[in-house]
Amino acid sequence: MQQKQIVAESVNAGLEVRDYERSLARSAMSRTRADRPSTFDLRGRTWDLLDEVFAPIYSPSTRIGLDFLGWTEEVLAPRSGSLLEVGCGTGMIAVTGALAGCDRVVASDINPRAVENARLNAVRHGVADRVEAVYSDMFEGLDPAERFDLVFWSSNYVLAPAGHTYGSAHDAAYVDPGYAAHRRFLAGAGERLTPGGSALLHFSSRGDLDELYSMAAQEGRELRTLRSQFVPEGELMVEHLLLEIVPAAL
Ligand SMILES: C[S@@+](CC[C@H](N)C(=O)[O-])C[C@H]1O[C@@H](n2cnc3c(N)ncnc32)[C@H](O)[C@@H]1O
Repeated sequence: MQQKQIVAESVNAGLEVRDYERSLARSAMSRTRADRPSTFDLRGRTWDLLDEVFAPIYSPSTRIGLDFLGWTEEVLAPRSGSLLEVGCGTGMIAVTGALAGCDRVVASDINPRAVENARLNAVRHGVADRVEAVYSDMFEGLDPAERFDLVFWSSNYVLAPAGHTYGSAHDAAYVDPGYAAHRRFLAGAGERLTPGGSALLHFSSRGDLDELYSMAAQEGRELRTLRSQFVPEGELMVEHLLLEIVPAAL
């Protein structure tokens, strides 16, 4: 791990990995490129992709999120129980959860096009009876009484200045102004769990880990690193992390 960290630091030397403007430029490129398809193939399946929705083909994040959950290229680890995927985008992770055996999946997003997109992919893959796509700003639009065995968010981990306003709904997949959404996830994910359930955040070194840890502490939470993977992304080497959010020890 130490070795990989050193390699990442030397690859990234002189480049600001956490630059939010770089991420907004990536967002604009992914949103507007002329060859952006209306469907794509990934993990042996075809998926719908609507305009304005985060495209799993232009970033490794979705694939890494799937790998972190045990749904790799080779194996679809069986999973039972319920899943809340916050920030579902195309719904690829939520739908894969249903295909892996989850009997109840809620796929939510602040981007209405993503909600529609997740619905389309649930129908396309025959799991619309188990996947409910819901428009929700973090937990606001969800049934406050419902509890889940797994709450997962593959987040917009790049920190933008607190006053930043999104130029498009698509940008909400890339940056989080002032980490306001992250603070709400840290504070609220645990309250949505069944006893023994787990709240997981897929974050990366494009984000501000120190700020995230400090926010978690302010919200009475601790973060445990469950998985880490270094991935070349263009000219950068990025570390992806699967973090579990747990109550802080008293
Ligand atoms: C990196 S994308 C991940 C999309 C999808 N899960 C995937 O892996 O392909 C982050 C997602 O979080 C959503 N998001 C950002 N802020 C949110 C909020 N406050 N409430 C709900 N979803 C949010 C974005 O719209 C985007 O779809």
